[in-house]
Amino acid sequence: MQSALRDIHAQRLLILDFGSQYTQLIARRVRECGVYCEIYPFDISADDISAFAPAGVILSGSPETVTEGATPRIPESIFALGVPVLGICYGLQAMAAQLGGEVVASNLREFGHAQIQAEQNSLLLDSVFADADQVSVWMSHGDKVSVMPEGFVCTASSPNAPFAAIENPERRFFGVQFHPEVTHTDKGEALIRRFARDLCGCAGDWTPANIVEDAITAIRQQVGADKVVLGLSGGVDSSVVAALLAQAIGEQLTCIFVDNGLLRKNESEEVRAAFSGAMGEGTLAELNIITVNAQDEFLDKLAGVDDPEAKRKIIGATFIDVFDREATALKDVNWLAQGTIYPDVIESAASKYGKAHVIKSHHNVGGLPERMTLKLVEPLRELFKDEVRKIGLHLGLPASLIFRHPFPGPGLGVRILGEVKASYADVLREADAIFIRELRDADLYDQVSQAFAVYLPVKSVGVVGDARRYEHVIALRAVETIDFMTARWAHLPYEFIEHVSNRIINEIAAVSRVVYDVSSKPPATIEWE
Ligand code: XMP
Repeated sequence: MQSALRDIHAQRLLILDFGSQYTQLIARRVRECGVYCEIYPFDISADDISAFAPAGVILSGSPETVTEGATPRIPESIFALGVPVLGICYGLQAMAAQLGGEVVASNLREFGHAQIQAEQNSLLLDSVFADADQVSVWMSHGDKVSVMPEGFVCTASSPNAPFAAIENPERRFFGVQFHPEVTHTDKGEALIRRFARDLCGCAGDWTPANIVEDAITAIRQQVGADKVVLGLSGGVDSSVVAALLAQAIGEQLTCIFVDNGLLRKNESEEVRAAFSGAMGEGTLAELNIITVNAQDEFLDKLAGVDDPEAKRKIIGATFIDVFDREATALKDVNWLAQGTIYPDVIESAASKYGKAHVIKSHHNVGGLPERMTLKLVEPLRELFKDEVRKIGLHLGLPASLIFRHPFPGPGLGVRILGEVKASYADVLREADAIFIRELRDADLYDQVSQAFAVYLPVKSVGVVGDARRYEHVIALRAVETIDFMTARWAHLPYEFIEHVSNRIINEIAAVSRVVYDVSSKPPATIEWE
């Protein structure tokens, strides 16, 4: 078992963040090449850099300009490490300026596709230009390098960036003005692979199988023979944590599944069933799940409350109360497992430096660790969401769970407009289940990013059969999005919407009318509250 001895973090790249919106994308692309990497703010100390001992460094882009004095600079110690360095966009400009070249503000901002032309043989770009002398890349810059530093050669140019790629083959410093990390750049993946694998000499040990093996060993070392409790929500992250812990420590794990009365239809049964394939040999036949029926407690607290943010706060706080109570009732538990993932870690680190966007306040279990005296085990802390999905599949969780649409922590609580009532939630659950079932049957589910029904407690007249109906309205919402920050309403076929609408009105007596939401984000949000 040679692999058990291999340290899959040993060969790693350091990514310095200068504030680009693409920094996490760079890291994900490096990881996709099988190479571990971590992101740090550009002003990380020289000691931390040498302690990290990277096999190579990537410098991100930035909204700033090096033509001004007080903007971010590359720590000088980076250039003395003796490892390859790749500067992307601002990273290239900062490297050029700091090593004796010149950068000018360009009157022409270059944004979008551009053709780069090979200028001469390149250690970095030869595989990019293997088939053609010109390649389409994605540009987004105002400034450009006007004079290269000594020792550098120009390896590619574009109409608006004469130094679109430069390199110092001796010191193995590279810079590209374009963005290899975005999919709009042809051969971007080949460039990053060439840098990470060949030029930095990393073997590619960062694979789902190795990550799982490594995580299992680490969990066993961390918790020993102690007992661990986990809040299982049915979402991808907590499910993958449960599968990993089950394989690592078997019966030492207890999962708590809180039914807040605002879950989708059959949620608890489906979560339980999903684990049948993810229980590693010799661990558990079945996941140890305590299902807590706290429906009345949540609904009582929500009675009379119609403000969306107030509802969110009540649902979050009640969850903590219930979970805390149940976990305390378990004997001898010392650890709380959480599905924290790497973007959460980066955001909280960045917020300490005062550079972050605000951390989401609506995280399901936020606040738990402060309240409870448990130690934390967070086996996904190093992973991006796409990596969590890959290891989930590797662990045997079904694709239907791994690629399930996101479901908000407050659940149906923010999909029932205004005051939440048990009877509304029952109706909404049925309507939502019909919509989702039909999407799956029509092979449309995976083509939209998120789809759900919304309960509108306004009365509308309908006639079903011979009977007049004066009941509430269901809205259907389906969106396509990459990052959930912007979204387009999904252009589902009319016949499909018609079929779903007929089913909902015919099968649910409490609904008189179905509407389809044709608002994109912005200005509308994805959820209705
Ligand atoms: P909006 O409505 O802000 O939604 O466009 C963007 C994404 O975030 C999800 N969302 C939430 N998730 N708690 C959550 O855990 C919340 O309070 C919450 N509000 C919105 C939403 O489902 C969508 O995926």
